[in-house]
Amino acid sequence: MIQDGFQRKIDYIRLSLTDTCNFQCFYCRPRFQETSFSPSNEYLTAFDIEFMFQVLAQMGVRKVKLTGGEPLLRKDMCDILQKISAISQIKDISLTTNGYFLENIAYALKESGLKRVNISLDSLNADTFQKITQTPTFHRVWRGILKAIEVGLDPVKLNIVLMKGVNDQEVEDFVELTQKYPLSVRFIEFMPTRQTVQDQKKYAVSNEAVLNALKRKYDLFPEINTSHTGPSRNYVLKNGLGSIGFISPITHNFCDQCNRVRISAKGKLRLCLLGQNEIELLQIIRQRDANQFEKIFMKSMVFKPKAHELNMRAPWVESFVTIGG
Ligand code: 5AD
Ligand code: SF4
Repeated sequence: MIQDGFQRKIDYIRLSLTDTCNFQCFYCRPRFQETSFSPSNEYLTAFDIEFMFQVLAQMGVRKVKLTGGEPLLRKDMCDILQKISAISQIKDISLTTNGYFLENIAYALKESGLKRVNISLDSLNADTFQKITQTPTFHRVWRGILKAIEVGLDPVKLNIVLMKGVNDQEVEDFVELTQKYPLSVRFIEFMPTRQTVQDQKKYAVSNEAVLNALKRKYDLFPEINTSHTGPSRNYVLKNGLGSIGFISPITHNFCDQCNRVRISAKGKLRLCLLGQNEIELLQIIRQRDANQFEKIFMKSMVFKPKAHELNMRAPWVESFVTIGG
C-alpha cells in the first residue's frame, strides 16, 4: 500500500499523456498542437506506461485517469488503454478529454477497456464555447458526448469551469440537462495559475454561492450510493437521469481526503496539482527496474504536501496542461 506522510492512502494515479492541446481554453492556455501525433522519445511510451502501471498495481494502485493536454491527440491512445486494462488489479480507468476526437474514437476506446469519460464542456452555446476554447467546435464536441453515451461509457461527466459574465448564466441550463440526459455535470471552480492569476480574480465564481442559489430554485437531493465521486459533492434532481456536482478547490478545501498523485507525460511525479515538488521517474522507468522504481516512488511520498495553499500564496504552476487539471 502507498501512504504519504499524513497517513493518506494513495491508490489513484492521474497520468498526463501529452502537454499540448488542439484547444486553447481561457483558463488553461496550453501549447497548441492541431492534429494527432506520435510523441517523441522524451515522452512515456505505451510500453513505459505498461511497465509503470504493472509495478504501481503491485504497490496498491487501483484507479487510473488519463489526462493531458488533450490525450486523444496521441495516436497510441487505444494501445495505452489496452495495456493498462490488461492489469487485473486496476479496477477503474477513465479519461479527461475536450471531446473533439470522441465521435470517431469512442467505440474503440470502450473496446480498449475505457470505463468512463470526463469531457470539458464549458458552454451549451456555440458562440460562448468558441470564445472560451478558441475553436468553433461545439457541435462536434456535443456529437462526441452523445456518442460516448451511446457506446456505453458510464458515467459520462461534463466539466464546467464557471466564469462570471462568460458562462455563469448557463448554470440552470446545465442543471436541466441532467433531467434529459444521463450526464453528470461538474462545476469546477476556476483555479489560478501563473498565467491566469489576474483573470481568475476577475472571473472566479464561488460554487458555494451557485449551490445556494440552485437550492432555492430546485429540489436538489444529495446523491447516494455512488462510487467515483472524489472531491465532488453531488446532487440529483427528482427523476433526473444525471447528476450535478461541485468541485470547489477554492471555497471548500478537500486536501485531507486526497488519494492521488500525478505523473506528467515526460515521466515526472507530481505530488500535488498545485505543489512545486517534481520527482524524475523517466530514467528509472526506461531501465525497467521495478525495485528501484518502487523505492523512489515510496520515498517521494514524504514530499506530498498536507494541503494546497491556493488561497494564501501566488500560484506557482504555469498551467495545468502538463498535469491534467
Ligand atoms: N481551473 C479549473 N479547472 C481547470 N482545468 C484546467 N485548467 C483549470 C483551471 N485553471 C480543468 C477543466 C478542464 C480539465 C481538463 O481541467 O475542468 O475540463
Ligand atoms: Fe485543452 Fe483541456 Fe486545456 Fe482546454 S482545458 S485547452 S481542452 S487541455
